[in-house]
Amino acid sequence: MRKLIAANWKMNGNLEFTRAFIARLANEIEQDKELLSRFDFLICPPFPYLHIIRHALLQWPHVALGAQDCSAYEDGARTGDISARMLSDCSCDAVIIGHSERRMFYGENDELIRKKIIRASGERLKIILCVGETLEEREAGKAQDVVKAQLDNALIEGLSAETIAIAYEPVWAIGTGKVAQTHDIEAMHAFIYGNIKEQVADLEKLRILYGGSVKPDNAKDILSTPYVGGALVGGASLQVDSFLGIARNS
Ligand code: PGA
Repeated sequence: MRKLIAANWKMNGNLEFTRAFIARLANEIEQDKELLSRFDFLICPPFPYLHIIRHALLQWPHVALGAQDCSAYEDGARTGDISARMLSDCSCDAVIIGHSERRMFYGENDELIRKKIIRASGERLKIILCVGETLEEREAGKAQDVVKAQLDNALIEGLSAETIAIAYEPVWAIGTGKVAQTHDIEAMHAFIYGNIKEQVADLEKLRILYGGSVKPDNAKDILSTPYVGGALVGGASLQVDSFLGIARNS
């Protein structure tokens, strides 16, 4: 299975950064096509930069474009929201839904996340659904229960490996430099596969990404762990060298 390396820029960058990043990425890929033969890449910038990146990436079909969130609603009086339809209108391929920062800072719950999945799925956007436990939940031995509930409550009927990827991101590993042990990653990814048989078709093709302080120097261990289908990368996705370094080192 081709692995997916997804960049989650979060609320970072500006116009100049975006232009420079994409020009450099295209240049690096041009010189290292072997990378594209092994990996799919996804870039998820802040909303205002989606359009610029779309144009810059037209010639690179293996580099997909995604948003970091979408509205749970179709359209109308929702000031500040961006609908899934607008994303697909701007030729987005994918959307991250349920990132732990949205759950934590904006109180997003599974019910809202499920509504967002319905919207994104209706627009044929590829969904990157983020799940993961906090440190307290892990220490209390509840990590699997938490992840199971996040999946059970959010997933809808009719999804397939084409239309969704799951990102397992332990909250305590995000942006902290702490990485889960590979045996814990393997166990959780296997657990996730075992728990979504009913909801996701073509399970053998489903990619479950790991996220949380993935960097070039730990990428090989993480990406060679059984059941890991790629990585969702925050901090290290903000430089072309470290972002591509994750693929190059794997
Ligand atoms: P990080 O972020 O790589 O900076 O830990 C990952 C994420 O939040 O998706």
